[in-house]
Amino acid sequence: MKIEEKEKIEKLIRSVEDFPEKGVIFRDITTALKDKEGLEIIIKDFTDRYKNKGIDYVVGADARGFIFGAAIAYNIGAGFVPARKPGKLPAEVESVEYSLEYGKNSIEIHKDAFEKNSKILIVDDLLATGGTAKAMVQLVEKLEAEVYELAFMIELSDLKGREFLKGYEVYSQLKY
Ligand code: PRP
Ligand code: ADE
Repeated sequence: MKIEEKEKIEKLIRSVEDFPEKGVIFRDITTALKDKEGLEIIIKDFTDRYKNKGIDYVVGADARGFIFGAAIAYNIGAGFVPARKPGKLPAEVESVEYSLEYGKNSIEIHKDAFEKNSKILIVDDLLATGGTAKAMVQLVEKLEAEVYELAFMIELSDLKGREFLKGYEVYSQLKY
């Protein structure tokens, strides 16, 4: 992504203090997504990075990861697989519990989501502690597929998610 594109996206992200609880600065991406040039810059950058890499499936994290994941998958000619909050997927699932910057949750994927040894790109809007992303890695590996890389629009560097994901390739468009 060019420097001026990065600056444009940075300006479009809205920071909201004390949401969803005191002490958290919430990085609101809705203000960047609703801007047609902003949306184009974000999706094009991911598309350029991941096209022609032999990625079979893009896995997006519930809910904000779906926005990017499906668009990237379509653009690179891969399938899209949702990793969902508990109780949402109708068929047999694999499940992993994880901690969040605020709270705890678990995430699920359909057991038949992809074939063994598939090449997987994990996508989410934001990397904070890395709890969600690590859970996604565990889900992919439970299905005996291979994580190609993890891609985020935003990385909150202070929370050290990248270290938590040591051993895996991590890409982020913007760092805070
Ligand atoms: C947010 C964000 C990431 C995760 C990052 O999701 O979209 O998925 O937190 O935090 P972590 O790196 O500490 O795990 P959230 O669970 O708030 O769900 P949402 O997308 O449904 O808003
Ligand atoms: N998910 C986890 N931490 C977040 C933050 N600070 N802003 C937006 N989404 C988040």
